[in-house]
Amino acid sequence: MCGIIGYLGNKEAYPILINGLKKLEYRGYDSSGIAIFYQGGYSLYKTKGKVNQLEKKISSLKLHGTTGIGHTRWATHGIPNDINAHPHVSNSQELILIHNGIIENYYAIKIILLDNGFTFKSKTDTEVLVNLIEYIKKKNKLSLEEAVRISLNEIIGAYSIAIVEKSHPERIIIAKLGSPLTLGINKKEFFIASDPIPFINYTNNVLYLKDGEMAILNKNKELDLRKIRNNHKLNPIIKELQINLKKIEKGEYKYFMLKEIYEQPKTILDTLRGRLLITDGLIYIDGFELNKDIFFNAKCITIVGCGTSWHASLIGEYILENIARIPVEVEYASEFRYKNPIVKKKDIIIVISQSGETADTIAALKLAKKKGAFVFGICNVVGSYIARNVDAGVYTHAGPEIGVASTKAFTAQIIILILLALKIGKHKSTITDDFYKKLCTELNYISDKISLTLKTDKYIKNISKIYHKVNNFIYLGRGINFPVALEGALKLKEISYIHAEGYPAAEMKHGPIALIDEKIPVVVLATKKKLYEKIIVNIQEIKARNGKIIAIVNEGDIQVSMLADHVIYVPETYDELSPLITIIPLQLLAYQIAFIRGENVDQPRNLAKSVTVE
Ligand code: M6R
Repeated sequence: MCGIIGYLGNKEAYPILINGLKKLEYRGYDSSGIAIFYQGGYSLYKTKGKVNQLEKKISSLKLHGTTGIGHTRWATHGIPNDINAHPHVSNSQELILIHNGIIENYYAIKIILLDNGFTFKSKTDTEVLVNLIEYIKKKNKLSLEEAVRISLNEIIGAYSIAIVEKSHPERIIIAKLGSPLTLGINKKEFFIASDPIPFINYTNNVLYLKDGEMAILNKNKELDLRKIRNNHKLNPIIKELQINLKKIEKGEYKYFMLKEIYEQPKTILDTLRGRLLITDGLIYIDGFELNKDIFFNAKCITIVGCGTSWHASLIGEYILENIARIPVEVEYASEFRYKNPIVKKKDIIIVISQSGETADTIAALKLAKKKGAFVFGICNVVGSYIARNVDAGVYTHAGPEIGVASTKAFTAQIIILILLALKIGKHKSTITDDFYKKLCTELNYISDKISLTLKTDKYIKNISKIYHKVNNFIYLGRGINFPVALEGALKLKEISYIHAEGYPAAEMKHGPIALIDEKIPVVVLATKKKLYEKIIVNIQEIKARNGKIIAIVNEGDIQVSMLADHVIYVPETYDELSPLITIIPLQLLAYQIAFIRGENVDQPRNLAKSVTVE
């Protein structure tokens, strides 16, 4: 993962870089560093920990210079410490590099460099790359741009890099393969970043570098864009971006995650806007309309994603199979890409990703395209790699999601999947007109029901006070609420570090029930409609073994309420829409437990928001 930033222009670089790094911390936050260049030298500082620790370390220093690069790290090679933090410097101290990605063949290159007298301070693949560039430059007496280009042609892996030569602080060279890299251009002033947010205050003219491209940036000169493979000059395509920065502030909330949970009544309306045309009884999905025949004639659909997006995919499977009667396979992107999947020409592959930058999902997308499939994307981040590279797709419009734990993006993904299923089901008459109308009407008011569900927060806080010290949690659901149980367990694990497992409730008796004792809280999704009676039996089995039940039930419930230790009442809805409601108390439970435990909810240990490495 990692976030990279750079500036080349006539302003002081330091404030641009340090503030930019704070906005990139969602990409990694185990260490950070900065290098500011001036004529004949540079100042370089790096440290283990978050960007504010770096800021503290250098707050008393006056760093002047109008060229600079910075990095916030999510460790791949080498533990998080000051030495492994970026930027990395070549043996002669002449070249300074930041890097996001992984150099897979770094070890073989390192051996060659060691044989040629190079030494290494860190355990990183990045230090190998900067020295490879130095080696090739010196050996062949090349310019820096040519040495960078030739070195990158030797690299296997993924990268976005920025490199500066000490004796030429008026120039930065950047390059991309696999990892994201954007360039903000304001006349002849350049802003480099993993995404455009850090520089959107300065310019909204953005170039998204494509894989295999490098750019030579010279102060006060035009941009020089080239192909890494053959050095061919390219025409830059500069886009004008509109981003509302207000959406990226915490406001009254302590953490972004809580703000994002509470935003859901609104984000769901944003996802539905212009798509659910309730007065006409129609559904209109822009990216879908031109390709609707492909979906209407589909024999099967494969949905691919990771983490929370994979859980949304499982819910999509249930909804599409039930409403549109199309067989659906759901795959982890990381498994799909290596399993030699059976994909035929024109098969439909839906890729789901909040960030649109997840490395495994991108690899799955590329593989599906190579096999001739029709790839449809469901993405949140506008302009992201996946959004730009699918055959067609739809944005979730949940707005920027900053908390590492995904919440509002998840409910937005489910909304899109429901709309797709309803649209296809109506066309194919696999859903009755009456039920179609009922679901559309319910969808139109679902945001109000989510607002009501959020009122459970106070009670959930009390439950959290009782259970925040336990070591294990179990989450149970059946049918469409089984993936919700998985998602609830993931939320708790990732932000509170409590071990949690999600199971289909009826699977308990095949093994996991052995875990039950009086210490283990079991969260059960026991809302009414299908399988309600069945889940009561599962609850009885747990109670018989002294397990503690935290039940999510519908308002007015009596049967489960009599059995459970704690009862969270949520509004009733159709099974097909119930994950939109039942996930809310699970998101709140995870948040409140992590908060009471004093964890950094938005930036949990070992994680990053965009997983751009495999
Ligand atoms: O950006 P994506 O939706 O592709 O990300 C996939 C997962 O990395 C992501 O959902 C992850 O599991 C979240 N931290 C879960 O809260």
